[in-house]
Amino acid sequence: MTSAKQTFGVTGDYGDRCGRHGIISLEILKPEILDAVDTMPLRSQDQVFTIGDYGAADGSATMPLIRDIIERVRKRQGELPVQVVYEDQAANDFNTLFKRVHGLIPVPRTYLQDFKDVYVTASGASFFEAVVPPASADVILSFHAAHYLSKPVTKFQDSIHRYPNATPQESRLVAAQAAEDWETFLLHRAKELRSGGILVVGLAADDSQNQVTGIRHWAQQPEEDMLNMWRRMRDDGKITQEEFVNTNMDRCTKYLDECTAPFKGSKPAVTKHGLQLESAKLVREPCLARLAWRKRLDEDGVDDRETWAKTIGEHHRCWASWNFIRALSDQRSSDEKEALVDELFSRIEKKVADTHPDDYMSDHLITFIVARKV
Ligand SMILES: C[S@@+](CC[C@H](N)C(=O)[O-])C[C@H]1O[C@@H](n2cnc3c(N)ncnc32)[C@H](O)[C@@H]1O
Repeated sequence: MTSAKQTFGVTGDYGDRCGRHGIISLEILKPEILDAVDTMPLRSQDQVFTIGDYGAADGSATMPLIRDIIERVRKRQGELPVQVVYEDQAANDFNTLFKRVHGLIPVPRTYLQDFKDVYVTASGASFFEAVVPPASADVILSFHAAHYLSKPVTKFQDSIHRYPNATPQESRLVAAQAAEDWETFLLHRAKELRSGGILVVGLAADDSQNQVTGIRHWAQQPEEDMLNMWRRMRDDGKITQEEFVNTNMDRCTKYLDECTAPFKGSKPAVTKHGLQLESAKLVREPCLARLAWRKRLDEDGVDDRETWAKTIGEHHRCWASWNFIRALSDQRSSDEKEALVDELFSRIEKKVADTHPDDYMSDHLITFIVARKV
């Protein structure tokens, strides 16, 4: 069941399949995030230090980072009470989030085991709306989420989103909606942050110039494989052309200049509301499955391509399957829809298993942004 507003859904095993990739990416970004936290103004002891995690899913990706932020805050500011606000779409699996935060699911280790006087709440408002009251947040985090659009704007005839094969007209529509949504997202955060507060965002990226990192798109090869295998299933008569065209990911993996645009120009609304860009850059995160394959090969001499391919399939199925399932005709039973998505990912896994891991572009490309309320 999805809400009318929902443009994206993940499966229940999110933390085990996808969240652990988020942890790795945040390990790379952590020193910079903690440095920014260290330069925030001190709060008085009768205040509460509020950390938001927007588009949190089950909260697993940010758990170790939030632990380290609290540690830094307590080091500088003593026993200041801390509030953590998790935000996601109302249809999100908040039950799993609470189980992780309160330790019923013990991985990753919850920061509640390490600190007293930390209060956890959650919000089902969209991040395109106000989530917390004005001037009440100190740190707002949002990872792998703010590239989702507030609503669908087009049906891609031969692609599943802008990359790789949207038509110029489809690209224009998506870019325009993404620009409007991104500015809305930033304006709300500008109002929510207290003076000196920071916004840290990591978004799935597209490096259209292919200059900075040698990788063009977030999870480039798995995403191309999803599109190509879905095309083949259409050509093999497994799904209809109508179902193929109905398969759309309502997201825009933005270019770096699209991400920085709201902060630039003669009268940027975002800057007028006090939010200033501190840094914006593209970061390449290594594919966990390839790292594990390489470790096994180096340490045990085992070239375990099967596990490698399976891990790639499971990871991308976890976040992407919702988009394929919802595109399939209502004439089909749920079992039939699941079987078609099973077939899609088993075709992908087979292709992956036949490719050398070093030749498969499965690293992630993200845009990392730090902004501060002045
Ligand atoms: C790929 S998951 C990322 C989860 C986690 N932040 C991480 O880094 O692993 C994207 C999350 O964004 C959420 N999301 C998408 N659109 C949203 C919106 N408009 N408001 C709030 N959350 C949204 C989805 O529900 C999903 O949980």
